[in-house]
Order: sequence, then C-alpha cells, then structure tokens
Amino acid sequence: MRIDKMLANLGYGSRKDVKKLLKDGAVLVNDEKIKDPKHHVNPETDTVTLNGEVIEYKEFIYLMMNKPPGVISATEDSQDQTVIDLLEMEDQVFEPFPVGRLDKDTEGLLLLTNDGQLAHRLLSPKKHVPKTYFAVIDGEVTAGDIEAFKKGVTLDDGYLTKPGELVILKSGLRSDIELTITEGKFHQVKRMFQAVGKRVVYLKRISMGSLVLDDSLDLGEYRELTEEELEGLIEH
Ligand code: URA
Repeated sequence: MRIDKMLANLGYGSRKDVKKLLKDGAVLVNDEKIKDPKHHVNPETDTVTLNGEVIEYKEFIYLMMNKPPGVISATEDSQDQTVIDLLEMEDQVFEPFPVGRLDKDTEGLLLLTNDGQLAHRLLSPKKHVPKTYFAVIDGEVTAGDIEAFKKGVTLDDGYLTKPGELVILKSGLRSDIELTITEGKFHQVKRMFQAVGKRVVYLKRISMGSLVLDDSLDLGEYRELTEEELEGLIEH
C-alpha cells in the first residue's frame, strides 16, 4: 500500500496534508525518512512512525457508544443528527456504521463498526443474539406479563414474537424492568408492551450478546472495544 494512502486512511489528513507531512520529514519507515508519497509499505511488517510515534495500521474499527436520545442510528439523515456525526474525524475515516438500530428516543449500547461480516453475524435472525433492555413502563408490570412474554406475544401486525425474558425490578404505577429478546423487529420492545396494554416511557439497551454497555460512558460518549470484548463477540 502507498504510504500516503495508508496515512490518509488512518485519518492523518487528506492525501495533500499527508504529502506535506512526508515532505517535512515527519514520517519514517523502518527508521528511514520517506518523502515520496508513492513509497510502498507493508502495514503488517513495516514499522511506520509519524513524528516519532509508531502508527498502528488497522482495517477494522469497533466502537461501543452510549447512544443519546434525539440522534438517529444511521449513517446519514437529511434532518437529524446521526450517531456517525458524534464520532471524531479520526474514527469517521474508517466509515463505520451502526450494527442494528435503536429508535431515535432510545438510549444505550450501540456497536459501530466497518466489519460487515461481524455485523451480519450479530444481526442474523438465525444467530438469536440476545439483547437486553432496561425500560420504565407506564403501568404495573405483573407476573402475568412475565408469563405472556415467556410464551411470546402477538404484535399489532399479527406477528408472534419469540420468547422474551422479563425481569421486574420495581413494580408500581410506573415499573422498572429488564427485557431480553433474541430478535429485533421494528420497535419490538415498545410493541411487546403495547401487546399487554402498557407503554414504554424510557428505553435503554444495556447489552448485546456478550457486549455490555460500559456505564462509565456518558450519553453520546464512545470508546473502542477491548480485545476481550471483541473476542467475545467474534466467538459467539
Ligand atoms: N425496541 C424498541 O422498541 N426500540 C428500540 O430502539 C429497540 C428495541
């Protein structure tokens, strides 16, 4: 790969910016100053430094975001801010996309990656990847609802859901619950509660497969997955 392409891909500026860095002598390949933008490097085996710092080349990026409400889980939107708009330029250059969707008003765990294969596997209905949500419900959630969700409930379009595991954290006029489902129909959690005559007033995803939302991330913040987190997802 050309050195200018590698550096530009990694977000160190446009090809023009990168050309200037090279001209200024900021880039070493295996300890040798390289000024020619056409110089070829092997990102696997060559050691490239920029201003003395070793550059890690990577093809894929894996980010965990605590999605804030009011933002769309898409790469582009004509009206609203998207989750991609919340990323730093140096991460946007990898062209990540959200793995699955959360509603505009839903918060919590969102995985963003440019690894299409991993995304496909996590979203495949055949894989039954469990997703757990915390929700506040307007109304009293009961043991009857636990039973109903265990059997699957019929949504407004006649679809019978797969079993969901409902845990009541607090029951009252407003109830706090956790619900784990293994599929991802449009507005699924909201519609499952609608099916038992109740309304979701707050919804947050807390896990997806082995990946658990890092509670040190404020709304709108994100970080790269750790090695262990990534391995957990790949092994699923
Ligand atoms: N279920 C919903 O109703 N909304 C979401 O955003 C995710 C799951």
